[in-house]
Amino acid sequence: MKTALVTGASKGIGREVALQLAVKGFQVFVCARNTDAGTETARAILSRGGKAAFLEMDVANPGVVSEAARNLAKHTDHLDVLINNAAIKLDGDAEMLAMSEAVFQETLQTNTMGPWRVCKAFSALLARSKAPRIINVSSGGGQLADGAGGWAPAYCISKTALNAVTSQLAVAMPNAAINSVCPGWVRTDMGGNEAPRSVQQGADTIVWLASEAPQSLTGKFLRDRQIIPW
Ligand SMILES: NC(=O)c1ccc[n+]([C@@H]2O[C@H](COP(=O)([O-])OP(=O)(O)OC[C@H]3O[C@@H](n4cnc5c(N)ncnc54)[C@H](OP(=O)(O)O)[C@@H]3O)[C@@H](O)[C@H]2O)c1
Repeated sequence: MKTALVTGASKGIGREVALQLAVKGFQVFVCARNTDAGTETARAILSRGGKAAFLEMDVANPGVVSEAARNLAKHTDHLDVLINNAAIKLDGDAEMLAMSEAVFQETLQTNTMGPWRVCKAFSALLARSKAPRIINVSSGGGQLADGAGGWAPAYCISKTALNAVTSQLAVAMPNAAINSVCPGWVRTDMGGNEAPRSVQQGADTIVWLASEAPQSLTGKFLRDRQIIPW
């Protein structure tokens, strides 16, 4: 059976990705730091006839991530898909010079180092998949092709750097398909009520990369199933 792990699957886009992957026949490991909400996602999958298990994991904590990888190795001998979805956006529209050290550090620790740390910890299980795939959920806010937008600089810089992590990982793991995705502006706690996209629309490219996209597609940044510059 194909296996997938989704971080930050307690709500929002991550929860929707976990539900959709289960419908596609994946056994889904639902990761979250919020035990109640993460367990609820796993229960929702089970109640619809899918296979799921909850795995507690705060991606900002190196010890917790290593422990989670050791725990997962007791339940599966391989991991086919890793979705690094968990992220925070702590800065509002504070400009670069007004941003605090603490906000900058915590944002990078979660949004950039978190996905790298999770890839590293689960790399042995991914290496046992015939066709491993990693999807890093990034943001158009990280694009510098037309210059920085200037909003939420810590968040946007963390996503630019995440795209660089994707690019480097694609070189380091040539047998894996590793890509970044911008889900668009999506109605979630992070995106707010005004966003034009549903979580289903936000999940589309992520689930496509996890299941149907060519395995040869790697090291790219995508939105709406198309490669975009960053
Ligand atoms: N919504 C948008 O418009 C939009 C646009 C572009 C990109 N994105 C990206 O899409 C992804 C999902 O965003 P979303 O809108 O679904 O956000 P969300 O509703 O705020 O959900 C974020 C998820 O990440 C989890 N998380 C945060 N820090 C974590 C940590 N240290 N360890 C483990 N889990 C953690 C949260 O768990 P808790 O419940 O424990 O906090 C939650 O499950 C993010 O990478 C985001 O940057 C979103």
